[in-house]
Amino acid sequence: MKECVIIDGVRSANVRAHAEKGWFRNVMPDVILEKVYKALFERNPKVNPSDVEAVFCGTANQSGSTNDIARFGWLAAGLPESVAANGIGQQCPSGMSAIIHAARAIMCGEGDTYVAAGVEDMQHVPMGNAMEFPAGLMDRYDIAEIPMGATAEKVADKYNIERIDMETMALWSHRKADEATKNGNFRKEIVPIEGEDLEGNKFIVDKDQWVRGSVSMEKMATMGTPFKEDGKVTAATSSPLTTGACALLMMDREKADKLGLSYSVKYVGGAMAGNDPTLMGVGPIFSVTKLLDRASLKPKDIDLWELNEAFGSQSLAVVRELGIAENAPFDNINIWGGALALGHPLGESGARIVVTLNNILKTDRTDVKYAVATLCGGFGNSSSTLWERVG
Ligand SMILES: CC(C)(COP(=O)(O)OP(=O)(O)OC[C@H]1O[C@@H](n2cnc3c(N)ncnc32)[C@H](O)[C@@H]1OP(=O)(O)O)[C@@H](O)C(=O)NCCC(=O)NCCS
Repeated sequence: MKECVIIDGVRSANVRAHAEKGWFRNVMPDVILEKVYKALFERNPKVNPSDVEAVFCGTANQSGSTNDIARFGWLAAGLPESVAANGIGQQCPSGMSAIIHAARAIMCGEGDTYVAAGVEDMQHVPMGNAMEFPAGLMDRYDIAEIPMGATAEKVADKYNIERIDMETMALWSHRKADEATKNGNFRKEIVPIEGEDLEGNKFIVDKDQWVRGSVSMEKMATMGTPFKEDGKVTAATSSPLTTGACALLMMDREKADKLGLSYSVKYVGGAMAGNDPTLMGVGPIFSVTKLLDRASLKPKDIDLWELNEAFGSQSLAVVRELGIAENAPFDNINIWGGALALGHPLGESGARIVVTLNNILKTDRTDVKYAVATLCGGFGNSSSTLWERVG
């Protein structure tokens, strides 16, 4: 089998998906994706876009202005018509699914160059937009337990996750993300795009909007629980509604060597798993277990984790059940912050955490051998990928 390496990864800043406060409130998602696609090739002039075999782009909700956005964004960017683009839908893991599709195709020799991407605009295409639940689903599950927030509360109860532990996790997520932002770590992955501030002044958005310089435990303790009366999950311990796009250039290792391109990681494998939709957030327990079993590895063999923080409750349940950690601060998980601070544009995040992982392995943690990126997804979908240092 051939080997698949990451040549580069870029993303937009993640901004609030908010009609009054979001920095991209007047920028449409195809424009954000178009700029990310373009930046990928501008940064890698040795790669001819016509050599891309296909594009896979994940979006959880492919409707309205994100309908066929994989192809529309590509064409709008002026990239070759001859390259096909596929919209991938697996709820939140859609972006990671795009990576898995590209890596498999490269490894089996179906093509040597692919773009894997992810995009979501939760303002212009809100969660659940135009979604209809089939009767069979409603017969099988209590529909009140299906929304994401309800699952976060159920996970907190079932796995005995305390509110204070989720808030401590949110605090550390912001601290790490703030430090990484201030150190300029994300400059290597964020494509600057024009947006507007709260007063409507245009400015170049080159940092994530939700990251807080200081977070107060006292303030968090007073926040309401929007998903359940007297529940445990708050806006601080939920990933915010977010907009963003992301893309990676993935290549057969031999071709990369021929072109003289550098890389740091190769794809070892991917795993998808399904689980009870009413406990959707614990999905990574199952996809990570599958993934590591196949590679004959244990969680303790993994040096670094990127675990998407959809909610504090599900993240804590996953790290505890896998035996990786008990409570934040985690020293080898989300070391530049997670989605509680950086945001979670559903179908983008699975690709974004791999872009960040690649950046970390190139610049910050050059000692890491194995790393895993994993995330849960709506209705009990989960995907995980295993990466090994080669550069
Ligand atoms: C939790 C949720 C309902 C809150 O939505 P909302 O009420 O519109 O609120 P916001 O996210 O705008 O946050 C509410 C307020 O809390 C504040 N807040 C959030 N985190 C905070 C923190 N750590 N400390 C202090 N204040 C905080 C916000 O700043 C905001 O106030 P502002 O608008 O004045 O800035 C929404 O973010 C949500 O649904 N998240 C989950 C999304 C999801 O399901 N994703 C899929 C996962 S699988």
